[in-house]
Amino acid sequence: MSTLNHETVTAVHHWTDRLFSFRTTRDPGFRFDNGQFTMIGLMVEGRPLLRAYSMVSANHDEFLEFLSIKVPDGPLTSRLQSLAVGDTLLVSRKPTGSLVAGNLLPGRVLWLIGTGTGLAPFLSLIKDPELYERFERVVLVHGVRFVSELAYREEVTVALPRHEYLGEILNEKLAYYPTVTREPFFHQGRITTLIDTNRLTSDLGLEPLSPESDRVMLCGSPAMLADTTALLEARGFVEGSGGAPAHYVVEKAFVAR
Ligand code: A2P
Repeated sequence: MSTLNHETVTAVHHWTDRLFSFRTTRDPGFRFDNGQFTMIGLMVEGRPLLRAYSMVSANHDEFLEFLSIKVPDGPLTSRLQSLAVGDTLLVSRKPTGSLVAGNLLPGRVLWLIGTGTGLAPFLSLIKDPELYERFERVVLVHGVRFVSELAYREEVTVALPRHEYLGEILNEKLAYYPTVTREPFFHQGRITTLIDTNRLTSDLGLEPLSPESDRVMLCGSPAMLADTTALLEARGFVEGSGGAPAHYVVEKAFVAR
């Protein structure tokens, strides 16, 4: 138990009947790199029930924030979805994860590509000033089924560009590309289709994805990761890690909750 902090829930926001986020206090000793995840959960029948969640909040924020789907029979999310202000959340003190800039070689454009709750680690990363020193452009791509699932859209398009310290650099370097698959929207289609047809890059006025200039971070369902990495590898991209930085890195958005 000594590896778990006890945090207090300070806010809960329900985006849809499938998707919610929550904020907690943060132990000042809890350190992480933007883009990482940790185990969080609740005491259930006298034992900690924990699942991996990426931090949505940045490592310079004084609070922690997480984004979650609600799985009706999910052992943890069925309980987490009724979290209320004042409740206790268990947070492991050992964050980890591969979506960190150090796992990538230098490049020109950084693509942060997430589907569903796979957006979470990228919300932390886009608030990292160092990221913008490493790349000329950063593109946040979020793929969802329905428009209502474009969580944090206002934060990315309205609040962050006005942010006191980050606003200027974000306005200059960050692009946001939301895409929806199951109803009309101004960008439509699966991320895999948008990559394969080069629509994603042409819509943004950029050259087709190539390992010479582009670096990619992926977070989504296992199927999305498998299909997207196959497309990238066909273009010559190589997966990077801490010991061997390369062109792309992946993290599963954990869905079996
Ligand atoms: P679709 O609506 O065509 O299934 P989910 O909520 O299931 O994780 O889906 C989030 C988004 O990811 C949806 O837009 C979904 O499209 C898309 N998606 C699901 N599977 C894949 C895949 N294998 N490759 C690319 N996109 C996918």
